[in-house]
Amino acid sequence: MVFKVRLWEILWVNGGRNLPTDNKELIEKRRTFAIISHPDAGKTTLTEKLLLYTGTIQLAGSVKGKKTDKHAVSDWMEIEKQRGISVTSSVMQFNYDGYCVNIIDTPGHQDFSEDTYRTLMAADSAVMVIDASKGVEAQTRKLFKVCLLRDIPIFTFINKMDREAKSPYELLEDIEEVLGIHTCPMNWPIGCGRDFKGVYEFASKEILAFTANNGQREVDTDKLTLDDPELDDRLGDTLAQTLRDDVELLEGAGDELDLEQVRHGKLTPVFFGSALTNFGVEPFLADFLKMTTPPLPRNTVDGEVDPFDDKFSAFVFKIQANMNKAHRDRIAFMRICSGRYEKSMEVYHVQGDKKMRLSQPQQLMAQDREVIEEAYAGDIIGVFDPGIFSIGDTVCSPSKKVRFEGIPTFAPEHFAQVRLKDTMKRKQFVKGITQIAQEGAIQIFQNLGGGMEEVIVGVVGVLQFEVLEYRLKNEYNVDIILEHMSYELIRWIDNEGIDPKKLNLTSDTKRIQDLKGKHLLLFTSEWNITWALEHNKDLLLTDFSKN
Ligand code: G4P
Repeated sequence: MVFKVRLWEILWVNGGRNLPTDNKELIEKRRTFAIISHPDAGKTTLTEKLLLYTGTIQLAGSVKGKKTDKHAVSDWMEIEKQRGISVTSSVMQFNYDGYCVNIIDTPGHQDFSEDTYRTLMAADSAVMVIDASKGVEAQTRKLFKVCLLRDIPIFTFINKMDREAKSPYELLEDIEEVLGIHTCPMNWPIGCGRDFKGVYEFASKEILAFTANNGQREVDTDKLTLDDPELDDRLGDTLAQTLRDDVELLEGAGDELDLEQVRHGKLTPVFFGSALTNFGVEPFLADFLKMTTPPLPRNTVDGEVDPFDDKFSAFVFKIQANMNKAHRDRIAFMRICSGRYEKSMEVYHVQGDKKMRLSQPQQLMAQDREVIEEAYAGDIIGVFDPGIFSIGDTVCSPSKKVRFEGIPTFAPEHFAQVRLKDTMKRKQFVKGITQIAQEGAIQIFQNLGGGMEEVIVGVVGVLQFEVLEYRLKNEYNVDIILEHMSYELIRWIDNEGIDPKKLNLTSDTKRIQDLKGKHLLLFTSEWNITWALEHNKDLLLTDFSKN
């Protein structure tokens, strides 16, 4: 555990020199982050409070809990509402204290961890929300592992301190042991549940006091210091003494917050608070915005692109069809990596090798869309996609062509044979299943030489099968028969020009291909993979496709 003992003020120094000063300033003020959590930890509630500060939404409760009839502004899909889980990721932008903040919501369920990974590709940092009574939960673990793959700063908000909670020491230990990342508390809780009295802030050495009210919503806060004569009365003797002891211990432990480590995802600053009662959210936002970075350079196949370069570049990290039945359309979400986007500007789509104009670029606030005139590095825009974009595609200025490194495809872990109930609907079936696969929600494979009437669907989490069935029925009016398969592992064959039929394999290994014609093998166990490698000299197998 690392403890912070002094106030810092950070100026991120950036090298970009090419953009006019005002554009450069606009980019420097941009902060783009993703929020991750186990379902029910309070991600929606925290997002709502963040939006409230900024006047983006007017009313607490616009982002609704799942039990009521109304739903989060970030909830789009019916299935998400029914199950109370976040299936899709939405994007929100707001201004706060001179910053332009982009929040990207991520699916809370581990079955959608691949979607989370792609979303994190578009973010510069992540906020991890943890329920104080539960600590690190199974799904946080999987999502978090995905964060580590990206090497981005992770900030932790330990939520629901107004309820019974684990000891803060235990919570930090939990994060350190289970997730393998160092922690640095920025504030320290005083009691919890009915006895929750607030937090001590290490930087200011002040206590942000919490006054519970019956409804436990929008509590009053005020500030005290450790030597305030009122302190013992306000906290009670026991809590006041515990606080003094904790502060002495923690501040004595002495290490300073190392921002370099934070920047590389090795150390997470931790904030305690309660999103529902709006306690500790604004200080969290203020500190977080100071600690996180503006857009950073991004890797292309030929080196880095500087966000301050005046030439526009972006990559597609998410595609979503039929987000809203009222607009039956497909939107490609792009993260702008450099320069400025202007309405009607001509761009070059690298993978399609075509110049084009992005159609109706929008910024989205859940179901509300606003056509935008301009956007800058760090921003996320959604553009109308007539079916030409794939995840990982680059769009850039025709006068400076770059190609971002692709977004890897995870090896699916569950497989099913999927075919049509009513063969008359073949066309809709092929369209639906291909579009859903292009969105990255599922992966589809074919038997060698097989057609599209019967496909093998691979998913990272079984819930994706349900989403597939639901979406095919609801959006494409197609019923399917889905038979789970007993394969557990998939590997791409990395050798060029190999004939899979000539491979020496166990009888329960299946040869398949993806839609790009790449060959793969389906295995029932690790043992079969070892067998294949031992019996086929030079065979190269990988568990992800580089795209
Ligand atoms: P999620 O997006 O991570 O899935 O969680 P969400 O914000 O929907 O919160 C899950 C539940 O936890 C909600 O209750 C919410 O009100 C509650 N909650 C969130 N933050 C806090 C907090 O700081 N303190 C307390 N005590 N509760 C919190 P619910 O019963 O599912 O919905 P609702 O009926 O309260 O709206």
